Amino acid sequence: MITFAVLTVSDRSAAGIRPDLSGPALIKGVETEGHRVNVVAVVPDEFDAIRNILTDWCDSDVYDVILTTGGTGFAPRDITPEATLAVVQRLAPGISEAIRAGSLTITPHAMLSRAIAGIRGRTLIINLPGSPKAALENLQIVMPVLEHAVSLLREKPDAESRHKARI
Ligand code: MTE
Repeated sequence: MITFAVLTVSDRSAAGIRPDLSGPALIKGVETEGHRVNVVAVVPDEFDAIRNILTDWCDSDVYDVILTTGGTGFAPRDITPEATLAVVQRLAPGISEAIRAGSLTITPHAMLSRAIAGIRGRTLIINLPGSPKAALENLQIVMPVLEHAVSLLREKPDAESRHKARI
């Protein structure tokens, strides 16, 4: 079982003007796959707020995967990828490449995603878009590799055998 954290990045949801729909949608998506979301939070589209909570969550070493939702597009306040870049120590470009490639089969708007993925310590951070539908579509694209990704990050003894099994 993978332990997730979910961070919604939205000025309006953080201000209580709009309910957070993507966070709960991601929780449901994660739980449907038999995993668990241990912590959730909503922050505004502010570089420091995003960087600080991502850093705290990674350094607590409690969560295997952090999903962020929102703030990855072209709007002037979309800053989630830059804040994530300030947190991660190693990039995981294959994940964001796969998300964009998979999403392009659904909508050309996938090109407007600037999302990144990367690793700090033993925690993988994945940026997802802000709409519940898009966030879930993205999650479904990466979900098949996450158990193996976490096994490698946590150096579990059976991780290498999964290469052979191609799962
Ligand atoms: N990916 C999928 N699978 N489905 C979508 O509907 N929407 C796109 C893109 N990725 C979309 C998607 C759109 S319209 C935008 S602007 C970018 O994600 C960034 O979204 P964000 O600014 O809400 O983070």
